[in-house]
Amino acid sequence: MAVTIDLSGETALVTGAGAGIGREIALWLARAGAQVTINDLIEERAESVALEIQEESGVAYAVAADCRDDKAVDMLVEESFRLMGGLSIAVNNVGMIPASRGLKPFIDYQGDDWRDIIDQNLTLSALCGRAEAELMVSNGGGVILFVTSGETTRPSPYNSAYSASKAAINHLVSTMAVELGPSGVRVIAIAPGTTLTETVAAAFTEERLEQIVASTPLRKMVEHDELGRLATFLVSDLARCITGQFIIADAGAFLSRTRPGNLEGVRGATSEETTK
Ligand SMILES: NC(=O)c1ccc[n+]([C@@H]2O[C@H](COP(=O)([O-])OP(=O)(O)OC[C@H]3O[C@@H](n4cnc5c(N)ncnc54)[C@H](O)[C@@H]3O)[C@@H](O)[C@H]2O)c1
Repeated sequence: MAVTIDLSGETALVTGAGAGIGREIALWLARAGAQVTINDLIEERAESVALEIQEESGVAYAVAADCRDDKAVDMLVEESFRLMGGLSIAVNNVGMIPASRGLKPFIDYQGDDWRDIIDQNLTLSALCGRAEAELMVSNGGGVILFVTSGETTRPSPYNSAYSASKAAINHLVSTMAVELGPSGVRVIAIAPGTTLTETVAAAFTEERLEQIVASTPLRKMVEHDELGRLATFLVSDLARCITGQFIIADAGAFLSRTRPGNLEGVRGATSEETTK
């Protein structure tokens, strides 16, 4: 008997699914048979991915909303439930990658940096999870999956606020799992290594990306579709005994001791910063 993942009958919301990792997770959930609500800040992106899924004969809806706004999150979750007739899977993928606004030494991070990064990663994810969990608890359970980062699995020089904000989500997952497990809600995080999305391509030079590949045991970055496959497995019945964990998907990068620890290869860093 062939083993397959069948998500038919499932109803999934993916935040920030208009591009990058979120898009790929949404495509894979739809290919496994789930109805999917595609959320993005940018309406055209959400609509374009929903169309892509419909063209592959899947069922998808687009809902534009800014996940930084608590009220918009509540609206998004309620609207997803209404459109799909349920919410059994939620993937909280939106997060702020500070490389896009500059990595810097710990002593240069100011109060606004910390508040902004914690807000857009930890607080945003917690509030999405809260709204989803509330609906799932009163509707028979579900699975909530957070996208954190491989940067949480080792020291992350020049990226202190991001790595701490994402590590806090890994911890939140374990607490949510204990509280929500008796109501049939599983809670998991995936912690991806470097994945060549538009945001990452804009932040790092070719040389920096080559260094990352060279110092990773599998000598590769993570492919988008590898995260789509992993997410599909984790939300499926095949993984029904897994909750409260974060799953590292980084081609072994967390084992590496040779990763460059300075700002060399970060676009926009000054020559003085790269030699610190
Ligand atoms: N790319 C990587 O190497 C990598 C590695 C580890 C973790 N991650 C995490 O994966 C997640 C996705 O990263 P990515 O590289 O695919 O990003 P991306 O920039 O390629 O795509 C993010 C999408 O989310 C949308 N978005 C941004 N802010 C939003 C908001 N407030 N509300 C709704 N939608 C919003 C954007 O419009 C975009 O379409 C993030 O949480 C990031 O921290 C990425």
